[in-house]
Amino acid sequence: MRMILFSSRQYDVDTFTEAKPAYDFDVHFQESHLDAETAILARGYEIVCPFVNDSVDAAVLQALHAGGTKLIALRSAGFNHVDLAEASKLGIPVVRVPAYSPYAVAEHAVGLILALNRRLPRAVARTREGDFSLHGLLGFDLHGKTVGVIGTGTIGRVFGRIMAGFGMHVLAYDPGTPAEDLLALGARYVPLDTLLGESDVVSLHCPLLPATYHLIDGRALEKMKFGAMLINTGRGGLVESNALVGALKSGQLGHLGLDVYEEEGGLFFEDHSNLPLLDDVLARLLMFPNVIVTAHQAFFTREAMNEIADTTLGNVKAWIEGKPRNVVQGAKSG
Ligand code: NAI
Repeated sequence: MRMILFSSRQYDVDTFTEAKPAYDFDVHFQESHLDAETAILARGYEIVCPFVNDSVDAAVLQALHAGGTKLIALRSAGFNHVDLAEASKLGIPVVRVPAYSPYAVAEHAVGLILALNRRLPRAVARTREGDFSLHGLLGFDLHGKTVGVIGTGTIGRVFGRIMAGFGMHVLAYDPGTPAEDLLALGARYVPLDTLLGESDVVSLHCPLLPATYHLIDGRALEKMKFGAMLINTGRGGLVESNALVGALKSGQLGHLGLDVYEEEGGLFFEDHSNLPLLDDVLARLLMFPNVIVTAHQAFFTREAMNEIADTTLGNVKAWIEGKPRNVVQGAKSG
């Protein structure tokens, strides 16, 4: 069996190479993104391993199928970039890494909150310039404030627990079953509008689905507390980017931390520092002193990378042995 990893970077090569001796199939690393043009590169590989900004739409799946692909092994938790209906139609199962390190993502969300609140990027730039003044760096105590967690699955629960440890009141919104550990810490499940209206910090940890697309739009931003903080480490499409600039200009949105961005495809994970930034909304967002953007790095810890490599290769092995695991619902082969 042969496997091809699209959008491979050196850190993928390192972690998959380290994990591979436990598995006896060939792994080929391909730097290109997967899309309709590059799908041809997968010809002859039974297993295709895309990353989050690769396109796994119907056209790509058909091209992969024609080239002999039999399994899509995602090396991510999110699967919003895959046309599951088409994969199912073609009989190509899709497996994923449902949980690697929820701590990595939750801790990054906390990092964004602290950096925004205490203006750390600005403070660091200032002291490097020999400016030791404090004006403009005033923060607030997180202790005693309210944090709203949207989506209390694996990551949202870890995040909620950490914020409870800061002494914050935790509000949660999730259409699924409430998390016992959060309830035990005093979290309250409330309707979305209540969460938006009462939270000083709102953090997104739900998947991107048709129902959650633009969950935070202009209307939702208006419902938030004046000057509140919004953190998105979920998926870019959860937030209507165009509505952010106006909310930041008016002060309605006090702080914004993004690890994911609606139009991040083709931009994030790449070095564009010698090129003009063509995305006007992102360019404007980056100009606000109360905005921090990181390039989809929340997952990026050593532990998470090792777990991703090990689970992905383990998923492939299980499928080869006829005992598929971590199959994305809706993409089961017939
Ligand atoms: P999970 O599947 O364990 O939890 C998701 C939760 O969201 C579930 O409890 C579900 O009931 C809830 N949910 C579904 N629809 C909702 C809605 N309309 N409103 C509120 N909650 C809703 O997923 P996990 O592992 O916690 O990951 C969450 C998301 O984080 C992933 O879907 C992925 O998009 C994102 N992620 C981002 C990473 C990054 O590097 N920035 C890395 C890993 C995941």
